[in-house]
Order: sequence, then structure tokens, then C-alpha cells
Amino acid sequence: MINTIFQTVDNNNPNIEIINIGADIITNGGLVAFPTETVYGLGADGLNELATKKIYEAKGRPSDNPLILHISDISELTPLVEEITPLAYKLIQSFWPGALTMIFKKSNIVPDCITGNLDTVAIRIPTNIIARKLIKASKTPIAAPSANSSGKPSPTKALHVKEDLNGKIDMIIDGGSTLFGLESTVVDVTGEIPIILRPGAVTKEMIEKVYGRVLINSAINSNEVPKAPGMKYKHYSPKAKLIIIQGEQQNVINAINEYGNKSIVEGKKVGIMVTEQTKDLYQKDFNIFIVGDRNNPQTIASNLFEIFREFDYLNIDVVYSESFSYDNIGEAIMNRLEKASGYNIIKV
Ligand code: TXA
Ligand code: MG
Repeated sequence: MINTIFQTVDNNNPNIEIINIGADIITNGGLVAFPTETVYGLGADGLNELATKKIYEAKGRPSDNPLILHISDISELTPLVEEITPLAYKLIQSFWPGALTMIFKKSNIVPDCITGNLDTVAIRIPTNIIARKLIKASKTPIAAPSANSSGKPSPTKALHVKEDLNGKIDMIIDGGSTLFGLESTVVDVTGEIPIILRPGAVTKEMIEKVYGRVLINSAINSNEVPKAPGMKYKHYSPKAKLIIIQGEQQNVINAINEYGNKSIVEGKKVGIMVTEQTKDLYQKDFNIFIVGDRNNPQTIASNLFEIFREFDYLNIDVVYSESFSYDNIGEAIMNRLEKASGYNIIKV
């Protein structure tokens, strides 16, 4: 067991002494969890092989699943990549700093162990000030996957990191709840057309506005083997059986009440995941999880992973969830929800 230092820092005005403690740990080959605008990351010196191996151990992550390098400034990109395509330039100008991870051809200084032996590397500049100050003070790109144990939802609060990794990492920097709540968009920019490998905060629509054409890797919405290696691993799925009910709102409400009732009769602990708009239209004997407001889908993105964790804490047996819009950030929301359900969708 490592003694994990836990420090709270103001997101807008981070205490530089605490940041420097984190940076020293990174420089000395240790692990620091830190907030980003998407989810918490588990950081190590991205150019130090031994340090990055500790990330895989702490998370229990398969070693061929590559990590994202986080940098604090565009000047740090050039040494890490072979080529910055015109497409990459365009997206950098439009979306960095931000929740867009880009896949480049890697240079020789990037260790093979962080790219799962691929000849490409994933890189992003986060917006979060704590993250950027930590990277700058560490004077190295920080390799960071989401700071959860493999198989758990990504952490949107420092407390989630603590639950999963306390005693396994050197430090947790608590910067409050993450702004977006889902992981970054991963886009391959090695060619002429951007290919979305993982949907996220930066939406297809946003990329289309600045670049015109965008492709979506077909494996994202199915059980095919996807191109982003991480997408092929079994993602978080709750201990509960999670079933998505899709259709006209009134049909969905009726179906959830009916299915829920049946499950209660079978002696099961039933959860339902619903919205502000519909919460009062269900029977009161279900465990009701209000995930957000349909008129503000960002609230759904922010709450989704925490609610996934609650299913597990409360030992729910079966969850019936409403379905949400696939538009804009809905694409990322539904991608995570469908995966968590094992594509268990009932159309009504
Ligand atoms: O928002 C985020 O992206 C967070 C924060 C901490 O930045 N990080 C994160 O990392 O979600 P992780 O490791 O949980 O997810 C990284 C994804 C995985 O699906 C991985 O397979 C993919 O990016 N990836 C990494 N390097 C890649 C590469 N060279 N080619 C294709 N996909 C890659
Ligand atoms: Mg992850």
C-alpha cells in the first residue's frame, strides 16, 4: 500500500505549492491523479517507461491499450510526432485546448509501451487549469488514462478516484466535479479526413462546421472490433442488468412501469434512470435515478458516470433506462449508455 496524498485545489486559482508537489512526483516516476474538463486522469511521466508501466498496474489495464499524452502548449507537440497534417492544424486551431484527442504518427521519443506498440500516438491539450499547470511544472508530457480501475466508469469526482485507486497511487488532486463528465473525443488526423474513433465532448457536428467531412469509425456503434484499441475492451457495465427502453415518450413510460413491476414481483431490486421531464410519471416503488434534463443534455453527460457507480453501491439488480437524443453530445452519451447495457435495447 502506498500512502496516497489527497489535496484539494481551487480550479480557477490552483495553489502552486500543491501543483509542485504533484509535479515532483511525476518527475520522480510516480503517479498523480488530476482533474481535466472531461474526467479525472491518472498521470505519469509519458516519456518514462517504468512510470507508465505503473499506470497499467494501478488500473489493472491491458498493456496493449494505449494512453493519451497530455501537453500544456502547442510547442510541446512537435517533438512527439512525425507529421502534423493540414487537417491536424485545422483541428488544433479550432479545438485546443479542449476535449479533443488527436491521433498522430508518433516520433521515436514516444515509448512503445504507451502506444501499445502502434506507430501512432494520442495527444491532447486539456482546458483545465490544474491539468495544464501540472503538465507545465512537470516539464514532460503526462500520459494519462481515465483514473478509474479498469472495468469501472471513468471518475468525474476525486472521490471516485479514491474509491478505485487509494493506496495504489502517490497523489490525488481534487479539483471538484469535472465540467463535461464524459471522456474526450478521439479523432484520427493522420489522413485527409478526420475519423472519429470515440465520440465525446467535441461533436461530429462541431468538427463538420470547421472541416466539412467527418467519418465515424463504424465499430463505435456496434460490437465490431474498433480501431481505438480501448474501445474493444469490455467497458464498464454495472452489476445490475441495464436495459434501455426506446420509443415514443408515453410508450417508454408505460413499458418501464410494466417491466419494472414484473421485476419487482420476481423479487428484484429495480432501478429506473429517467429525466427531470418524466420523473413524476413512474411508480414510487422503484429506485429512481434522475440523470438530468432533456432540455440541457450536458446535465445528462455530467451525471451519467456517477449514477452508474450508484447502481453498484445500492446493489440494484435491474435498471430500466430511458433513451436519450443521439444529436450532438447525445452521440457520446448514448455510446457510453449502450456499451454499459451491452447493447441491451428494447424498442417500444
Ligand atoms: O478525456 C479523456 O480522454 C481522458 C482524460 C484523462 O484526458 N482520458 C481517457 O483516457 O479517457 P483512456 O485511456 O481512458 O482512453 C483513451 C482512448 C482509448 O480508447 C484508447 O484506446 C484510445 O484513446 N487511444 C489511445 N491511443 C491511441 C492510438 N494511438 N490510436 C487509436 N486510439 C488510441
Ligand atoms: Mg478509460
